[in-house]
Amino acid sequence: MAKKVGLVGCGAIGTVLAEAIERKLVVCDELVVFDVDAAKAQKLKVALDFPVKIVANVDELLAAKPKVVVEAASQQAVREYYEKILAANVDLIVMSTGALLSLNTENPNVHFSSGAIGGLDALASAALAGIDEVTITSRKNPKALGKTNTEEATIYEGYAEEAAKLFPREMNVAATLALTVKPAKVRVKVVSDPAVKRNTHEIQVKWRFGEMFMRFANDPHPENPHTSALAAWSAIKLLQTLLES
Ligand SMILES: NC(=O)c1ccc[n+]([C@@H]2O[C@H](COP(=O)([O-])OP(=O)(O)OC[C@H]3O[C@@H](n4cnc5c(N)ncnc54)[C@H](O)[C@@H]3O)[C@@H](O)[C@H]2O)c1
Repeated sequence: MAKKVGLVGCGAIGTVLAEAIERKLVVCDELVVFDVDAAKAQKLKVALDFPVKIVANVDELLAAKPKVVVEAASQQAVREYYEKILAANVDLIVMSTGALLSLNTENPNVHFSSGAIGGLDALASAALAGIDEVTITSRKNPKALGKTNTEEATIYEGYAEEAAKLFPREMNVAATLALTVKPAKVRVKVVSDPAVKRNTHEIQVKWRFGEMFMRFANDPHPENPHTSALAAWSAIKLLQTLLES
């Protein structure tokens, strides 16, 4: 049977993913895409030689019988389409992980990639033994945060659940950590720093048998500075794995 991939959201991540499919980094036969902004879907289709089918809504996307659906749209999109996609019994890759914090994620068809960070395997292992404290400090250029400060400024300190709501485009990384280490809490600090060009995430973990420190300095996507290129590549990697299974 032909292997199809469904894509919800044809922005920065969706486009990098579609290009990877065209370059055969991910092997599938057809890409079925939906975007509320029809022009975005059209732009993606004309940029590719690979067969792309544009559909008008998620029902049509599911009717095409994709093996995997990738959400690369928004937290709102996850909340809107989650039940419908899972009812179709297809694998779902969620990029807007903030939305998952208030949804039931028990279904084995729900997947999230490591996104703009990594090391989730180590965190998940430590979480089994017991995690005392997880802190993520995200440092971005003011432009990537919609700010205009000329000196370094801490613009948020709190916890992942609140951060993912207040910064729905920025703090999916914190949500991803929270989903990985739950029920442990993830402390979040967001720094708007004119001195940095890269989106930088530093993660500190104190757990029962040691400590961890991870640092990711990611080039922002040229067309969408909110998003790190690594996030798109993590979706590609997970999609590759799910399609091969
Ligand atoms: N997990 C992570 O580490 C991580 C990292 C970066 C981005 N993200 C998240 O992934 C998502 C996609 O990121 P992006 O940079 O590609 O965003 P983008 O803004 O470049 O593209 C999103 C696209 O989705 C479309 N869209 C929005 N809501 C929709 C809906 N309800 N139905 C259909 N289409 C819809 C938009 O029109 C747009 O074309 C965002 O929510 C972003 O915050 C997660």
